[in-house]
Amino acid sequence: MKRRIEMATLQGSYLFPEIEKRKNAYLVNYPEAPLISLGVGDTTEPLPTLVAEAMGEYARGLGARESYSGYGPVEGWISLREAIADRLYQGRVAPDEIFISDGAKCDLGRLGLLFGQEARVAVQDPAYPAYVDASVIMGQGGTFNGRGYSRMRYLSCTPENGFFPDLEGADDIDVAIICSPNNPTGAVLKREELERLVSWARQRRVTIVYDAAYAAYIADPDLPRSIYEIGGAHEVAIEVGSFSKLAGFTGVRLGWTVVPDRLRYEDGRSVQADWRRPISAYLNGPSNIAQAGGLASLREGWGELQEGIAFYRENALILRRRLVELGVKVYGGSNAPFVWAHFPGRNSWELFDQLLSKAHLVTTPGAGFGPAGEGFVRLSAFSSRERIEEAAGRLAALFEA
Ligand SMILES: Cc1ncc(COP(=O)(O)O)c(C=O)c1O
Repeated sequence: MKRRIEMATLQGSYLFPEIEKRKNAYLVNYPEAPLISLGVGDTTEPLPTLVAEAMGEYARGLGARESYSGYGPVEGWISLREAIADRLYQGRVAPDEIFISDGAKCDLGRLGLLFGQEARVAVQDPAYPAYVDASVIMGQGGTFNGRGYSRMRYLSCTPENGFFPDLEGADDIDVAIICSPNNPTGAVLKREELERLVSWARQRRVTIVYDAAYAAYIADPDLPRSIYEIGGAHEVAIEVGSFSKLAGFTGVRLGWTVVPDRLRYEDGRSVQADWRRPISAYLNGPSNIAQAGGLASLREGWGELQEGIAFYRENALILRRRLVELGVKVYGGSNAPFVWAHFPGRNSWELFDQLLSKAHLVTTPGAGFGPAGEGFVRLSAFSSRERIEEAAGRLAALFEA
């Protein structure tokens, strides 16, 4: 068969496979190297017991005739949609505006089906790489010009603009994918910033895809955890959420997407009604076992879940504090599980190699998230306390030397 032009246009390999490749190449030469990974950002700590038990019980029930169940509703269990509306949105969205999925990444990819190939998609620079790859695969990318894709728009987020997406000259955008708390910068949009963004979207008829996968990491009560805390957002925004970093479900796979009833196409038709079509065509509803775990996370497991989040948050603070003590300029890490360390003038893949070879630390080079990430490395807080403390010690040994 003929290869699709969109696949041929995709640049290089996805960031994390490249990191894996470099790490493995290093291990071939130094098999004994005591590596610590602060790279990919996968959770490490066990699930709350009550959550694991709820999934075990559901799975066991599948082995008995009386309790066996097959396909569930395409939108997910109503009990889970209600629990999310109640626990995570305090009623700001209705249960029937919430669509449960097999993960935020999967939904972020499928959302492109709503917008179509002609849509002009904007991403923050730097950004989680899946946004760009999924848009290019969908056919929204255009040609690669050495720095970025011709039809994509890149909203620069730097220390100079306080990591607020640069909307200057972004006049032809249809869809803006915004992530807060941000991966990779760890920046969280303040209430007035989010208000500015929503008002810009309303004026320009831009749809915001708001990736709130790390919302649970916001400790500061003044920072918004959902875009729907902002008036008027229901008319312009789709929000994506995830149990991955909320409940340690990276391998279990469970997320959701909020498509508000008030979100309408230019001709007044319902976007929500359309969203049912791709999820019916591609998903057939999320796993029942995962949903049993999701429900337990928001009910009996909630207390233990909060402890898990606080644990990773403390990890981020340990890394952040140590880097500050060492005189490194750092961002994020307070209301997000990522620390964004700035080394002005340095090449971020070289920094990655230096941290790997001199401190045996696997990090993520900032340039892998976009040109504005050059000079930065991202450190993830998803690790055991022992490893985080060891990593902090190695950073000190490296930068004090
Ligand atoms: C910003 C962001 N969105 C979405 C995801 C993916 O979430 P899920 O595991 O629910 O697919 C990640 C995972 O790392 C992420 O960093």
